[in-house]
Amino acid sequence: MSGRIPRNFIDELLARTDIVDLIDGFVPLRKAGKDFQARCPFHDEKTPSFTVSRDKQFFHCFGCHASGTAITFLMEFSNLGFVEAVEELASRAGVPVPREGGDAGPRTDFTELYELLELVVQFYRRQLREHPQSARAVEYLKGRGVSGEIAARFELGYAPPGWDGLLAELGKSEQARERLERAGMVLKREGGGHYDRFRDRVMFPIRDQRGRTIGFGGRVLDDATPKYLNSPETPVFHKGRELYGLQQAKAGGADYLFVVEGYMDVIALHQFGVQRAVATLGTAATRDHLERLFRATETVVFCFDGDEAGRRAAWRALETSLPLLREGRLVYFQFMPDGDDPDSFVRRAGRERFEDRASWVPLSDYLLGTLKQEVDMESREGRARFADRALPYIGRLADGALRRLLLEDVAKLAGTRTANLDPLLAVQPDPAAALRRRAVPAAGRGRGSLTPVSRAVSLLLNRPGLAELAGNASDLRDSPVQGADFLLELLEFIRSSPGTSCAVILEHWRDSRFESRLRELAAAPEGLESEQFDPEGEFLGALEQVRAAHRKQELQTLQGRRASDLSEEERGRLRAIGQRGSPARKD
Ligand code: GTP
Ligand code: MN
Repeated sequence: MSGRIPRNFIDELLARTDIVDLIDGFVPLRKAGKDFQARCPFHDEKTPSFTVSRDKQFFHCFGCHASGTAITFLMEFSNLGFVEAVEELASRAGVPVPREGGDAGPRTDFTELYELLELVVQFYRRQLREHPQSARAVEYLKGRGVSGEIAARFELGYAPPGWDGLLAELGKSEQARERLERAGMVLKREGGGHYDRFRDRVMFPIRDQRGRTIGFGGRVLDDATPKYLNSPETPVFHKGRELYGLQQAKAGGADYLFVVEGYMDVIALHQFGVQRAVATLGTAATRDHLERLFRATETVVFCFDGDEAGRRAAWRALETSLPLLREGRLVYFQFMPDGDDPDSFVRRAGRERFEDRASWVPLSDYLLGTLKQEVDMESREGRARFADRALPYIGRLADGALRRLLLEDVAKLAGTRTANLDPLLAVQPDPAAALRRRAVPAAGRGRGSLTPVSRAVSLLLNRPGLAELAGNASDLRDSPVQGADFLLELLEFIRSSPGTSCAVILEHWRDSRFESRLRELAAAPEGLESEQFDPEGEFLGALEQVRAAHRKQELQTLQGRRASDLSEEERGRLRAIGQRGSPARKD
């Protein structure tokens, strides 16, 4: 295997790439002021809210909030993994991708894999019709009530028993066998040679949003285990991001989407006319899944079995959803009656009852309802515990109406006032929280709605050159101010990479807990373009506010201790801060 792609190669690659040219090749862009615009390729819209900035090498949609770098664009638009997207950009720039501890990895061309997987789909479908032993598979599907029409629409197939059905057909040369292996369809034998991964199973082709086959699920015909086998991770198949049936569901125009757990659930629902159903591939819904869902629709309805396992899975889905809920996005839960899954329920009760919105539980009801059940709401202690448990969940919501309303509800249920809970909500042990959460808006100014740390970070993302103004900021190290450490890290990163761009910064923190907040801040250049805006002054002002908050918190800590417990140094520090005075409140 080839090694990791060196980080500085990605920096250089981004410097050679122009995101405007790249995106323009897929989505024709129109110049609008300094930036470029188009109708967003990630959601349906009539007027363009998709913006691409050449300065920042960053795209952003004001409608669906998709955003990112050239790499992100290729990942999302062309449905590539990170490495593939880097390889694609490198091949456009005409440079090989170096690997740590080795030379360039093999040049990859995924078209080949997609074409191969298409042949595999056709092969399995033919086997379902023609293989001498396929009657069992046909019987199985009939027994489960799958109509011929729906089997054709979902391109169901049959992987024949035996070790080399697929190999014999599509693996005639060594090169072909290796390609099948890369596609996840065959495995290497220890002693050399290959064998079919899927044997004697009903096959479900999995297609991506652009309709290309990327992998398969396969179900046994009896009670053998494992019941389902999925394609492994391959260059084109990433289980944690794909949704089974999304292509078919989108074709129906989706003002909401049901998320179910199994292939057979999706198929049964479609057969009974519920065409808005998609499934994760045997994993809990991930952040990537949700981002993708929210690009296709504003309303997501998770369907879970009504048993204990279903409730646990629902709670996980709730936790994953919280940070992604923004204006307009809605999440509901629908629990199947005991003993049913969506497949059996829709067959028994029919489409209308399945689609009955009366059984949708809003996420917030589910959250508070579940937490209430865990404590004795009749006692003061129980209500306090309820509030203590609810606040961290509320803290994960972005600022907005839902967060406010939930806080009010928790206060009411706990028998207190919102004002009493607000300060508790502010205590967030998570260091990323200060970046994520917004401070109380200052006198209605747009920019004022960010904390000083977030404002400084946002300015740096938009004008990395500002870092030079910061001077020595090492006093921010170990600061009690949330996010100050991160700000320092960012300043040091920019100074160590002269000429860096917003995109390089974003790629540096890809896959870290700061990633999504950084993307938001990169997309928020409020006022930045106006003539009166003074970025230098704003930046220095934000830094000074961070330092003031630092002093204030330090002062409070020191004053909170007995003078006799303080070291000489701490006393000196207390005097020094005291002389500067605690920061005056600007009202
Ligand atoms: P049947 O109705 O029995 O066909 O299954 P189901 O579609 O109701 O699926 P179930 O609720 O048992 O599981 C839901 C999903 O989890 C399936 O569609 C698969 O994606 C996945 N899954 C279930 N069993 C297995 C397994 O043994 N291995 C793997 N990798 N995935 C599984
Ligand atoms: Mn089932």
